[in-house]
Amino acid sequence: MAHYFTNEQNLRSEIRKVDVMINGVDYYFYTDNGVFSKGELDFGTGLLLKTFKFDGYPQEKRILDIGCGAGPIGIYLSKLGFTVDMSDVNERALHLSKMALKEQRLKANVFFSDAYENVNENYDYIISNPPIRVGKEKLYDIIMNAKDHLKENGELWIVIRKKQGAQTLIRDMKNVYEKVIITEKKKGYYIILAK
Ligand SMILES: C[S@@+](CC[C@H](N)C(=O)[O-])C[C@H]1O[C@@H](n2cnc3c(N)ncnc32)[C@H](O)[C@@H]1O
Repeated sequence: MAHYFTNEQNLRSEIRKVDVMINGVDYYFYTDNGVFSKGELDFGTGLLLKTFKFDGYPQEKRILDIGCGAGPIGIYLSKLGFTVDMSDVNERALHLSKMALKEQRLKANVFFSDAYENVNENYDYIISNPPIRVGKEKLYDIIMNAKDHLKENGELWIVIRKKQGAQTLIRDMKNVYEKVIITEKKKGYYIILAK
């Protein structure tokens, strides 16, 4: 399968299926070496999905899962009926997302994008378990520039750990967004909603 992954060519593939049940919705995604959250759903991602609340009907809403990885967020949202875009810079992750969507007969637009470079739409919601290890500049690019890709009254939902600098991030987000709310805190993970 190595030919699928331009940026992960030399990593041995070890695909595992992860079954998920969140808010009464069951689905699965695949993990692999070189992709975030190997062999399981990340606790923070699960908390984000359990906490995420939306108005109206998913069928009428467009949502971006930025840094989608293997797809646990976007696949869940597709199953709920949202119009979903999923982006990442990891080719192997994008492949896994597409594979799981196709098998479950779900539709989402999965594409390569470094932050918003290939994002041309505006969304009702942008949701992310954002990359921390990429450094502050890229992290802030993803979080602060989400506002330019949100519709009026759109919302950004993210999860971040306290020890990864949640407090500083929240302070800085308040300089960019009208409202920044901590909607949940559990085991050192913060779910942050920005409008
Ligand atoms: C913490 S992981 C979350 C993955 C997945 N959403 C989940 O919850 O399991 C962050 C993701 O951001 C992706 N990423 C890193 N740098 C990026 C960038 N510049 N633009 C978009 N995504 C990026 C990583 O490849 C990784 O898949």
